[in-house]
Amino acid sequence: MTAWHETQRFQRKLRRFAAEADPAHHAAHSELFRRYAEYTLIPEEIFCDNLALMRQRLRDLDGTVVECGTWKGGMAAAMLQVGGPERSYHFYDSFAGLPQATPTDGEDAMSWQADTEHPWYYDNLRTDADSFRKLIASFPGDRVHIHEGWFSDTVPHYDGGPIAVLRLDGDWYDSTMVCLEHLYRHVQADGIIILDDYDAWDGCSRAVHDFLSRTGSTARIRRFGPTGVALIHKVDD
Ligand SMILES: C[S@@+](CC[C@H](N)C(=O)[O-])C[C@H]1O[C@@H](n2cnc3c(N)ncnc32)[C@H](O)[C@@H]1O
Repeated sequence: MTAWHETQRFQRKLRRFAAEADPAHHAAHSELFRRYAEYTLIPEEIFCDNLALMRQRLRDLDGTVVECGTWKGGMAAAMLQVGGPERSYHFYDSFAGLPQATPTDGEDAMSWQADTEHPWYYDNLRTDADSFRKLIASFPGDRVHIHEGWFSDTVPHYDGGPIAVLRLDGDWYDSTMVCLEHLYRHVQADGIIILDDYDAWDGCSRAVHDFLSRTGSTARIRRFGPTGVALIHKVDD
């Protein structure tokens, strides 16, 4: 393939993600944000871009939706609304907050976690699984699986079939890495991995780069929507 063909192929791939967000759904996504705002840490525009991206992928794919790092479940609840009752969902969280950040997670992560008076500290993101269960109680129980505990204990036992959307929101290096190591291979062709913390925390971007490099992957980090949601589209390998 010539460099020209390669460029065309690359631009086609980029266009796919740029063009397919349906503006008609924006109001519905904003409404979901308002409904779940107190249960999510994600700002409205990013929240809506996540939902637009998921809606676009889930139109074509009937695989499972997975979120690692739910906190109070605001994004998870909205994902259930967008993905509908016909598919399976797996949600993972310690509900005991974040593990200790390490130097690999970066100076910002360590100082954020040390500053317990920080307005966004939120008790180190400790929450409880029962209120999450209550939030999503109206969804068919047999399709929704909540895995409480550390990712290293729960994620390796994933048995939910091909994944259409894998949303990684665990902030730190080890948390991101364990999910990539055990779930990446379950993401179906044309499925996506959303990297919530790719821009926010050094540990997340390091884990993504280390994982792709270690596995010899040719995957690129793609961007979606006005807020530039970072993702991997599983056609790149
Ligand atoms: C930023 S919050 C998730 C935000 C959420 N998706 C939302 O809608 O706002 C990160 C979550 O990841 C969880 N988490 C991070 N590392 C973890 C690990 N190794 N095992 C289990 N849970 C983890 C934390 O408990 C926390 O609730």
